[in-house]
Amino acid sequence: MIPQDFLQQLLDRTDIVAVIERYVPLKKAGANYQARCPFHNEKSPSFSVSPTKQFYHCFGCGAHGTAITFLMEHAGIPFVEAVKDLAGQVGMQVPDDGSRRPPEEESRREKMFERMEAATTWYRKGLKGNEKVVDYLKKRGLTGETAARFGIGYAPEGWQGLREAMADYADPLLAEIGLVITNEDKRYDRFRDRVMFPIRNERGQAIAFGGRVIGVGEPKYLNSPETPLFHKGRELYGLYEHRRAIQGESRVVVVEGYMDVVMLDQHGVQNAVATLGTAITADQATRLLRLADDVVFAFDGDNAGRKAAWRALENSLPQIQDGKRLSFLFLPEGEDPDSYVRDQGADAFRKLCDGAMPLSDFLFAELTAQTDLGSQEGQVRLAKLMEPYLDKLGQAPLLKRMLQQRLASLTGLEPPRAARGPRGAAPQRPPQGRAAVQPSAWQIALQAVLHDTTRATRMAELPESERPEAMALTTAVALLREHPELSTRDIVEHFRGREEQAVLEHAAAGLLAWDEDYDVEADFQGALNTLSAQAGRAQARELSGRKPSELTPEEKVRLLAALQRRKPDPT
Ligand code: UTP
Ligand code: MN
Repeated sequence: MIPQDFLQQLLDRTDIVAVIERYVPLKKAGANYQARCPFHNEKSPSFSVSPTKQFYHCFGCGAHGTAITFLMEHAGIPFVEAVKDLAGQVGMQVPDDGSRRPPEEESRREKMFERMEAATTWYRKGLKGNEKVVDYLKKRGLTGETAARFGIGYAPEGWQGLREAMADYADPLLAEIGLVITNEDKRYDRFRDRVMFPIRNERGQAIAFGGRVIGVGEPKYLNSPETPLFHKGRELYGLYEHRRAIQGESRVVVVEGYMDVVMLDQHGVQNAVATLGTAITADQATRLLRLADDVVFAFDGDNAGRKAAWRALENSLPQIQDGKRLSFLFLPEGEDPDSYVRDQGADAFRKLCDGAMPLSDFLFAELTAQTDLGSQEGQVRLAKLMEPYLDKLGQAPLLKRMLQQRLASLTGLEPPRAARGPRGAAPQRPPQGRAAVQPSAWQIALQAVLHDTTRATRMAELPESERPEAMALTTAVALLREHPELSTRDIVEHFRGREEQAVLEHAAAGLLAWDEDYDVEADFQGALNTLSAQAGRAQARELSGRKPSELTPEEKVRLLAALQRRKPDPT
């Protein structure tokens, strides 16, 4: 952990414009700076950097964040590295003491990486000149060049081959990184007689291996266990090798196997990554959606593939933002991307990806298959089944609306009235990027506070709500009341890695779309009124649901007042 006050000082000395300018030429445009977005391909500039908010936002691809986020995403480095980089720029030294990883632990990690590196090199040597293995790989169509690019190697037969590669085979670190298995006083190599695929982190360091049996055998693939360096649900095979291609095409294809990634690459499809034998996690989905607008999940056409696809859908829904496209590709029976690209070539595979089933179609297809739309009961059932999935679309209000409308056309049930556009929302608010939608009162209030953080101390208590924007606003306001000196960027950084982060980042990015003459204060007051009216109505509903005899005199007065000012209920 980097101490908060150090981070604060660092941010105070950092100018996002200077940081981004190191990589991207910026042009002044009004109060902000503009450029062609470095995160996706575009002809006209939609990437905007605000020196006052210390925030960037791309209206084309939705990329956004602080100077730290920019370094993490652009250079593909982890948080701590980004902080070190910034510190170096402004001549600060990241403190080594305190709550950071203690130096001895740091050097233990370094040693772990060194051991992994030594193993990788040694496995690669094992491949050279080994006729059996080279033959096997050649039969599979793999060239030596591709094998080198992915660092593919071979772990020879024999129980303690790694003795040759390691200075000390008894080193307990070898067991900790999963290369050696210890059993009572016996020690032996985990990987024996297998083709070795190194799994690399974003800096290209080997953190784990997948080992394939040669020919038939069980298990077909043996993988490193979870280790201090390797967390299966986080990593993606091929991400290090393919990051640039993915950003360039703004599309990533997620496949199931190591060989799929490698063979696609060899045939010229260089934007594929693989999960490591597990369903795609929310964490992985988030990372992919940051890199590309278009995520194609490719699965085998069998039942297992459909199940895996459904789990990918479930875990991705909360991470989707409007403007992103997720789709599902089901390969013909008996094929995987490896066999397909070998038979049909890269263009045919790309065509398949272009025609992949959009997430919305997949969602409706799977759920309608479970219901009988010919009956009203069936239609109601579909609406019920759909509900939890729609609820997960917290970051994609437009997509959610479209799905609600589609559901309505299938069931004849009206979509929720609020979905047709809230009343009382400010008309003069400028559109938010290309996907213009009326923001909720919560969103307006949140953005107004991020726009001018002094509002936090100038506003009344907020009603309670479990909406993500409401929770984010409430926590941000509480923080600002304690630390009124914090800026927009500081707030967003404060919540890095927490639940509120996505909502706050998204709201802050939206500020960059505002016209200079937009009357924030008017909208802010309007939003606060709407929220308090909503809370009043909710209270009135609750009070009028109780027996009059049970109400205290004070509650009766409140109920009466609430009934008198009752306006049509928009929810
Ligand atoms: P598949 O069984 O589909 O194999 O496993 P594949 O990728 O087509 O492999 P080849 O072409 O026969 O060599 C897909 C992925 O599931 C994980 C691996 O990550 C594999 O790439 N897996 C599979 C395992 O982890 N262990 C296994 O025993 C099998
Ligand atoms: Mn295969």
